Amino acid sequence: MRAIDLYCGVGGWSLGLKLSGVRVVAGIDLSTSALETYRKNLGDHVRRADMRTLCYTSLPKKIDVVVGSPPCTQFSYSNRGGSGDLNDGIVDLQAFLSVVDHIQPKFWVMENVPRVAKIFESELLPGGKLEEYSHLVDSVHVVDLAEFGLPQRRRRCIVGKFPDELLFNYREETPTRAMKDVINSFKSQYYDDEMFGARVYSDELSDHDIEDSLTDEEVRLNLEAKTRHPVYNGMRFPDSLDRPARTLTATCTKVSRESIVIDDERTFGSFRRLTLRERASLQGFPGDFQFFAPSYAAKIRLIGNALPPLFSYYVGCALRGVSTGRLRHPWQRKRISLSPQRAPNTKPRLAQHRMSSKRRFRAVIPGFRFNSGMRLQMSNTFVCGQPKWIVDFHYGSPKDIRTIGLEEHSLNVLITDRRAEEELVKLNLSGAE
Ligand SMILES: C[S@@+](CC[C@H](N)C(=O)[O-])C[C@H]1O[C@@H](n2cnc3c(N)ncnc32)[C@H](O)[C@@H]1O
Repeated sequence: MRAIDLYCGVGGWSLGLKLSGVRVVAGIDLSTSALETYRKNLGDHVRRADMRTLCYTSLPKKIDVVVGSPPCTQFSYSNRGGSGDLNDGIVDLQAFLSVVDHIQPKFWVMENVPRVAKIFESELLPGGKLEEYSHLVDSVHVVDLAEFGLPQRRRRCIVGKFPDELLFNYREETPTRAMKDVINSFKSQYYDDEMFGARVYSDELSDHDIEDSLTDEEVRLNLEAKTRHPVYNGMRFPDSLDRPARTLTATCTKVSRESIVIDDERTFGSFRRLTLRERASLQGFPGDFQFFAPSYAAKIRLIGNALPPLFSYYVGCALRGVSTGRLRHPWQRKRISLSPQRAPNTKPRLAQHRMSSKRRFRAVIPGFRFNSGMRLQMSNTFVCGQPKWIVDFHYGSPKDIRTIGLEEHSLNVLITDRRAEEELVKLNLSGAE
């Protein structure tokens, strides 16, 4: 069975398929670091091309399977709160589907963020932007890859024409893994990679530099963002190791709601982010897969964007028609050799104890009882180098927060006469119409 991997990145699809016995004969991507990573781990059958202007005569012949993950940037809620350019994102879905239409393979599978399921459902309809491809699409699902043994909750839209029932039946056969199954495996002189049945000795592990603990200020900001956020639901801080990890993203600042932060065992009461290697393992990559990129942030992006090979392995088994009773897991299969060259380490930045004097602060003013989601927020700007404090009134739904700056008069009314609260809300809401 021969496959091609479109928007292949570092090869998350290709690696799992290869392990399951599907031969991937071509991969296409634009990113230099992703292509280098793919080549060094999986082979030279990958090339740089723009999927949006791809010349189909360059595609290999006799293809049974097309897989891939077009970019999710425009669809993802973790990018600018979901306000990406959907039409631009749909161009990549069209580019993918157009190749499928050209090749007419036996099977095809596309992965993306959950929102893409809704886009397919509406755009496949008459008059929709994907209508001309509606004859290709057999099924659109949203699945949590944690159900396939990934130690991470990662809900994904899976679209295509493939043995979906068989694939979903495998969920009964896979173990549930928690974040601790990965994190604790790194604590001895070797990493026991239980997903792929391999042992990697600590001195052979790349990208496993443990970062400095978070500073007090970073801890405070984490707590603010995660446990005291006035609009979004509360989150755990630090993250629980007893459950699958939260969804890993392609960026990870130290203080965002997305950042996964765990107890730092080096010092009681301190916290740290995950290492690149821990992130890769939570993304279902074998412990010896090498990531080639010029910076720490670039590696975080490659890892966060990838399709977990643990999942694509099971997709490969379903494509090959392996019945549930005959299913073997990756850790029961022969290992495949990956990059013989170890990727140069990219070190995380050291802790920054000195903060910029031009820092921005934000805080919700406590004590005012509004409906959920509404808040008065104080923040600073700098005018001619001098800090200036302003108060804004925020309201709306989490996906559509509106802001009104309060002038001094309204503020004074609010502060001196608390009964004016409701009036103020009405006043500002009507002022915003
Ligand atoms: C979600 S990632 C795919 C990840 C991949 N499946 C993996 O396992 O690493 C999307 C990929 O699309 C690539 N890409 C974005 N625009 C592209 C284009 N116009 N042509 C080809 N590749 C593109 C990006 O470089 C990125 O690697």
